[in-house]
Amino acid sequence: MRMIDIIEKKRDGHALSKEEIFFLINEYVAQQIPDYQMSSFLMAVYFQGMTDEESSLLTEAILHSGETIDLSSIDGIKVDKHSTGGVGDKTTIVLGPLVASAGAKVAKLSGRGLGHTGGTLDKLESIPGLSINLSINDFIDQVNDIGIAVAGQTANLTPADKLLYALRDVTGTVQSIPLIASSIMSKKLASGSDVIVLDVKIGAGAFMKTLEDAEELSRVMVNIGQSFGKKVVAFITDMSQPLGFTVGNKLEIKEAIETLEGHGPEDLTTLVTEIGAYMIHSANIKPTLEESKAYMQEMIASKKAYQKQMEFIRAQGGTLDDLDDFISVKEIIEITAEEEGYVESINALEIGLAAMKLGAGRKTKEDEIDYDVGIVLNKKVGDKVAKDEVLAYVYNNLKSIDDILTQIYDAFILSKKPVEKQPLIYKIIT
Ligand code: URA
Repeated sequence: MRMIDIIEKKRDGHALSKEEIFFLINEYVAQQIPDYQMSSFLMAVYFQGMTDEESSLLTEAILHSGETIDLSSIDGIKVDKHSTGGVGDKTTIVLGPLVASAGAKVAKLSGRGLGHTGGTLDKLESIPGLSINLSINDFIDQVNDIGIAVAGQTANLTPADKLLYALRDVTGTVQSIPLIASSIMSKKLASGSDVIVLDVKIGAGAFMKTLEDAEELSRVMVNIGQSFGKKVVAFITDMSQPLGFTVGNKLEIKEAIETLEGHGPEDLTTLVTEIGAYMIHSANIKPTLEESKAYMQEMIASKKAYQKQMEFIRAQGGTLDDLDDFISVKEIIEITAEEEGYVESINALEIGLAAMKLGAGRKTKEDEIDYDVGIVLNKKVGDKVAKDEVLAYVYNNLKSIDDILTQIYDAFILSKKPVEKQPLIYKIIT
């Protein structure tokens, strides 16, 4: 078999066979296919797409390029959730303990943030003492003991994805539905859960900019998961404005805790209740979605979810006695409205980039994070704003940040007329 023939076949719009797909992934990982040929192939996929069968085969080939995690020694149904990434997205930190408090098993491998999107691991590591470096045995024991563990990836999972993603990043081929779907699903399948809930974000701060693209990506991922015998559901949710009010590591941890204490932002609370209901229903904990949703609300109201969150933080070495002393910055700067109006939009991408420049995120993998800095929105889309009222608070440790303040101010678009709130959940694809 020759790579040139595979490239030409895809370039001309034909479907590849299983042998061809496994050949190109295995030989690429073995460094027998040069980057220039793989780049050309990725560009052919970008333009020609792949059939559902090819997408499943590509996922299978990437999945088998490395180790997989065997969670069979965990009793009960293991649930996992994956977000395609966003700004202020602290969903996992709320949802994990929430569904664990209802009896589902959460064995979650998470990632770090890069660019404008934050990562769950960085947020968790902002809690003093908390470690995400669990051996696979400790990880499994902790899930059996308390129902939840969140760790960084230690095993050599999906090495083909790491190589392909780095190449896609520099060859203009990230935005391809079969490539995104196989990248995400190979990692989810390698992590071993029985139920996978996907949170596909759309809007300025997300990979997918339109509902049509998000629907297609969701459909392909659900189809791949089902072809591997997993229960998969995809939520298409809004990421045109940040989720909740906070962006920044410790600020997001604080908001995640407040949400399980029952006084979190409305959008985040709705999202975790809805997604959580699907997770526990799929884990056969409650027979209907209605009952599952009510159960999620009950877990929050009774503080059981909050207690589970504290148990989880303690189990991973974290101490978080006093939320009031948790965050400490040199200054908190208010950004105020120059005129009255209604918030029409808050560009999530710009807010994410501004938070990164403050030090809350990384431009490159080597950058150090300042856990305390970030942005707290005081207004969200649809809110009325008076002249001189605060739009956002900026938690800062840097010397001069005028350009960042302007970027945050410019991210808010105000309208003279009342603005309708956008839906938070656009669609659920099962
Ligand atoms: N997230 C992934 O893990 N892979 C992609 O290709 C895009 C987003």
